[in-house]
Amino acid sequence: MNYKEAYKKLETCNQLHILNHYETLDKTQQQTLLDEIALTDFSVLAISKKKEPAARGFITPIEAMELAEIEEKKETYQALGMQAIKDGKVGAVLLAGGMGTRLGSDQPKGMYNIGLTKNLYIFERLIHNLMDITKESGTNIHLFVMTSDKNHVATTAFFEEQNYFGYDKNYIHFFQQEMAPASDYNGKAYMEKPWKIATSPNGNGGWFSSMIKSGMTNIMKQAGIEWLNVFAVDNVLQRIADPVFLGAILDKNYLSGSKVIKKAAPDEKVGVMCLENGHPSIVEYYELTEEMKKKTNEKGEPAYNFGVILNYFFHAPTLETLAKKELPLHIVEKKIPHIDESGNYVNPQTPNGYKYESLILDMIYMMDTCLPFEVIREKEFAPIKNKTGVDSVESARMLLQKNGVEL
Ligand code: UTP
Repeated sequence: MNYKEAYKKLETCNQLHILNHYETLDKTQQQTLLDEIALTDFSVLAISKKKEPAARGFITPIEAMELAEIEEKKETYQALGMQAIKDGKVGAVLLAGGMGTRLGSDQPKGMYNIGLTKNLYIFERLIHNLMDITKESGTNIHLFVMTSDKNHVATTAFFEEQNYFGYDKNYIHFFQQEMAPASDYNGKAYMEKPWKIATSPNGNGGWFSSMIKSGMTNIMKQAGIEWLNVFAVDNVLQRIADPVFLGAILDKNYLSGSKVIKKAAPDEKVGVMCLENGHPSIVEYYELTEEMKKKTNEKGEPAYNFGVILNYFFHAPTLETLAKKELPLHIVEKKIPHIDESGNYVNPQTPNGYKYESLILDMIYMMDTCLPFEVIREKEFAPIKNKTGVDSVESARMLLQKNGVEL
């Protein structure tokens, strides 16, 4: 993109201030900026002007497949899911493009060492969880790892250095998600440097469109993969490519599934599965009204009781048919380091603007069917979000030890 084209693009979306320092930059910096302008989608910034979040549809409870029912049909489900794995129909997608700001480490979250007497990296733990299934099935499973501009180089170098933790490296594929500009409260993009727009990963909702753009879906199709198990980097206890989970979805003839856990308390901060206008959906904890929190089902149990843990199965061909549909954008208030008008670097201590993200949980609403599949919290949910306290390295270590994992 040349200067004239960049000027035109920015003028259309009201972001001409991005070129304010252009004349003072050297040739390389000028080109870096023009390239970044070409690659950035500024249309997201227009939504900052709409103050009201999009209204939700009509929310009603959804029935989950609970532990007792799963136990009863476990063998059937296991056989169905295992056959699909052996037939090469299953792939896994690790979402690792996030910034992990709450953990406060500069490195990718997966590089965090949770070991006590030996090294045990989060990535290592996840790969070994997946290897439980590759060994049991005698089948290699393609793993697609999503990174972002902020952590791609460090992540790929770490896998190489660690020899892919014993996984066949021909079955691990890295791809990068897109970045979105961060802005002030008026929707004006912040600049990180005179030649660099302040950008951040655009949320975990764009994973499939990034898989398409980066050619990952070609690998997927060549391998005959029909089902993708998508999971977060931070849950060190989760089961990946779980045959029983997939078998239950196949048995029901559904298009997706979500692992869920019973909420620990009515006001626990997790999104819960529901129906929205008759479609499977996820309602965020802050969207639950008092009435919804108190509502019970015919068994007398809370009606909105199953929290999501970011472990989903999606039918890939269905995702392809939906690829053109846009996900809603979420505006998140954040502290955004930037340069001011005179070019001085500002590192704010309080929020000063917005980041724009699309979320994977909104993909569930696009599916006609989704199976909420209950798992035991203590056995499958140990997320590492914070340094200490709830959902922290400490709590995850305790849960790992309870499950017999040597640290
Ligand atoms: P979180 O919502 O916990 O976000 O991500 P985060 O960026 O990792 O952490 P904080 O909020 O800054 O502390 C849930 C999952 O989605 C992935 C994360 O890597 C994690 O596996 N994710 C999140 C992405 O892959 N890309 C994103 O843009 C955001």
